[in-house]
Amino acid sequence: MSWLFATVYDPFMRRTEEACLSQWRDELLAPLEGSVLEIGAGTGANLGHYPRRFVRSANGTERLVLTDPDLYMLERLRKRPEAGALEIARASSDALPFPDESFDAVVSTLVLCSVPDVERTLAEVRRVLKQGGALFFLEHVAADEHSPRRRWQRRIEPLWSKLAGGCHLTRETDRSIVRAGFTIETLTKESMRKSLPIVRPTVRGIARKI
Ligand SMILES: C[S@@+](CC[C@H](N)C(=O)[O-])C[C@H]1O[C@@H](n2cnc3c(N)ncnc32)[C@H](O)[C@@H]1O
Repeated sequence: MSWLFATVYDPFMRRTEEACLSQWRDELLAPLEGSVLEIGAGTGANLGHYPRRFVRSANGTERLVLTDPDLYMLERLRKRPEAGALEIARASSDALPFPDESFDAVVSTLVLCSVPDVERTLAEVRRVLKQGGALFFLEHVAADEHSPRRRWQRRIEPLWSKLAGGCHLTRETDRSIVRAGFTIETLTKESMRKSLPIVRPTVRGIARKI
């Protein structure tokens, strides 16, 4: 199933990327500076959206480390032309193989829906972030509590999770980020156009470790 998910991911997301995701990735990643860790980098959908200074093959000056636990995702990631000489590591976000306070920023896009333990991941993200560093996130989340969409999300979640790499539909990720001790600096809630209705509600923004 993991092979299938990695194989269909980019074609499945193409219309959504064109409709909105691509622009959101550009805007989210534009302010990044210093040393950056991306968790759940998948097939490398963010690679074309990092500021050019991060891409070493273009004489980048900053550090960018890409991680994912899935071998099939990593295989596709490594084949991207932009991956060039970037640091790529196999790692799960609940046990990041990096010292405390080693990054200025952590990027997570469409990942916190899939990790088995959100709290553990957010604790790891906080641990590897320097004081004053920030989590740059873009995640699909649960619909409003009593809405029909939320009811559908709850019904479909068990099957969906099996088909879509462990993805959950009813996580209240922005709340989890606050509970983990981050200070939310910017938060945008928007519908992810040209995607399945069950994954349309999204949050994106910057959460700082103060
Ligand atoms: C929906 S894909 C998102 C890929 C990419 N970040 C993007 O924006 O398109 C979810 C990714 O989370 C990864 N993932 C699943 N469990 C994870 C974990 N425990 N730690 C880190 N990444 C994980 C999957 O392997 C997959 O690459």
